[in-house]
Amino acid sequence: MIFNKKLNKLGTETAFAVSSESKLWEEKGNKIYPFHLGDINMQTPKIIRDATNRYMNDNKNGYCASEGITELRQALAYDVGLKRNVLYDMDNVVIQPGGKPTIWKFLATVMNKGDEVLYPNPGYPIYESQIRYQGGIPIPYGFNETKSGFEINLEMLSRCITKNTTVLIYNNYQNPLSASSSASEMQALAELAINNDLWVLSDDAYYEIRYTNDKARSIVSIPGLRERTVILYTFSKRFAMTGWRIGASIGPKKLIKQIARFNINDESCTNHFIQHALADIIKNENTGAEKILDILRKRRDICVDGLNNIDGINLPMPDSTFYLFPNVTKVMQNKGYSDLDQFRIDAMKATGVSFCTRHHFGTVYNNEKDHYIRLAYSGINEEDISEGLKRFKDWIEN
Ligand SMILES: Cc1ncc(COP(=O)(O)O)c(C=O)c1O
Repeated sequence: MIFNKKLNKLGTETAFAVSSESKLWEEKGNKIYPFHLGDINMQTPKIIRDATNRYMNDNKNGYCASEGITELRQALAYDVGLKRNVLYDMDNVVIQPGGKPTIWKFLATVMNKGDEVLYPNPGYPIYESQIRYQGGIPIPYGFNETKSGFEINLEMLSRCITKNTTVLIYNNYQNPLSASSSASEMQALAELAINNDLWVLSDDAYYEIRYTNDKARSIVSIPGLRERTVILYTFSKRFAMTGWRIGASIGPKKLIKQIARFNINDESCTNHFIQHALADIIKNENTGAEKILDILRKRRDICVDGLNNIDGINLPMPDSTFYLFPNVTKVMQNKGYSDLDQFRIDAMKATGVSFCTRHHFGTVYNNEKDHYIRLAYSGINEEDISEGLKRFKDWIEN
């Protein structure tokens, strides 16, 4: 008996391995400061929990339409369209059990064997895993570090395009870099997609995790992009609902219809007591999301201050997501390290501070010289952030 040969093409989220390591270390009686996983240690807002309970008790617990219930599809079409200056109706929306399923279902809909797919590296590792698994050729594009954060290396991106390129994956408000595109960067990407007739996956997982008052930017707002773009939408981060597994794919009707066929073949439908609750909540002014954002903002400030207090780290204040990606090249040099993974493991054992590194977010380029770590502040409270980073500083500077 043998397994499917294609399985060796399937990747993973190696960040989960860091969780297991830190768990083991904790079980041995050590204190862990968990900066490694992009989970949220806050409760889902009460208004959502209460509404869900109500619908569950009201017998909303059978199968429902595999595209999702009308009320939620309508509510999302309105909300997502309004925030991006485009018109959507319910046929542009198909509900998913989380944000992640949109990645494979979108690729399975638009990508053919041998197609080249552009994706961000460093970036969310599931893109590469799914491109490879489904028979596409993953073509990574990188970023440049600037004084104010990271920007897409547009020159590299344009050089990557060939006659076989069919898809661009774009994650604005980006994991792990917290990069946010300027208007001109987004325009350049849009032109590239139009000129080369590419499908676009706009991963909007962090669209609402923003700490400034200016309106979030979306590539679908640019003329010519709505017709070729699918938005990965998720409730996971906005409402601290990572474990509830609910999101949506939003895009051109013909494409959404195809994605819905995968729903029927895969999960049949997503829980509809949750869908009913969210359809009510999303129309509501007071969702509880503001409170989550306030807590995250405070954590971000403490975290950036704490890191900038360390000799050799100089980190700009990002305005979105809940990740930080400091350059630790100098820190490692000062401490006598050349191996990033060894640095990570020793830091955890010496201080309890657990984080991911650049290696968890895609294959390192041959010409890459600098070293980076990724800290998430969504799953650790203020006190532990301060205490953990103080220990990290002491270890690094002594
Ligand atoms: C960039 C990005 N896209 C998609 C997802 C998946 O979101 P969900 O947990 O809703 O499936 C994540 C989760 O961390 C993410 O960081």
